Amino acid sequence: MPRSPLIARTLPALRRALEGLRARKATVALVPTMGALHDGHIALVRLAKRRASRVVVSIFVNPAQFAPNEDFGAYPRTWKADLAKLAAEGVDLVWNPDVKTMYPEGFATKILTEGPATTGLEDRFRPHFFGGVTTVVGKLFTQTRPDMAFFGEKDFQQLKVVTRIARDLDLGVKVTGAPTVRERDGLAMSSRNVYLSAEQRAAAPVLYRSLKDAARRLKAGDDIKATMKAAADAITEGGFALDYVEARHAESLAPVASLKDGPLRLLVAAKIGNTRLIDNVGV
Ligand code: PAF
Repeated sequence: MPRSPLIARTLPALRRALEGLRARKATVALVPTMGALHDGHIALVRLAKRRASRVVVSIFVNPAQFAPNEDFGAYPRTWKADLAKLAAEGVDLVWNPDVKTMYPEGFATKILTEGPATTGLEDRFRPHFFGGVTTVVGKLFTQTRPDMAFFGEKDFQQLKVVTRIARDLDLGVKVTGAPTVRERDGLAMSSRNVYLSAEQRAAAPVLYRSLKDAARRLKAGDDIKATMKAAADAITEGGFALDYVEARHAESLAPVASLKDGPLRLLVAAKIGNTRLIDNVGV
């Protein structure tokens, strides 16, 4: 039987648990999550286990990163299954604060970032999002003081933003991104995939397919504008309402005019029914 991780739900319990974990100069890795764990999260945990001697996973569905019209209430919460998965991976500690512990009465601080957070991708369509992510990730970093932290590349802009805050605030955390884990048909794993009906699920791989086609065309020398227009058309014909599908510089996320301005990353966000999915690929 795998041993259940320690669970901390209050800051004093977290501090005590971390003191224990840090004994004998152990290195600590943090994997921040909102729960509803899938194989993408498990890949992050496994990478963290290879790189650090102790692994902490946070599970906190962060209200600050959802707009009032978004899915905070409906977001899948699968605590028992999550804990069983983390026990099977040999995770040491689960940090699972409630909203009042994370944002106590009178909480009035926000971490505001520019640079990758204001490049007109997710920030254009979810203007509240990065303020919520940066504030909670900043708090998770200061609460757990990890040596390193692991985030999925599926949320590519988020990865750039949290890397920036770790550097800009001298938090001493090395942020590492890990490749997106995909279903067999290419759909990026996401906790939100459970919202898809059977028909929507069958349509969803068009996102990855269109990005891969566009990457192939760009590598072969096709024009960026025409290639991205073809990707947009394929995604729309596939049943999605597109927020954006764009070629950007893979580091700065700035718009690019040609392959020579690269390395490039192609990023998409689109809605099918009420479910909004994102994905990206390198070129
Ligand atoms: O990617 C997520 O699951 C969340 O945005 C994160 C990084 C855990 C912050 O709430």
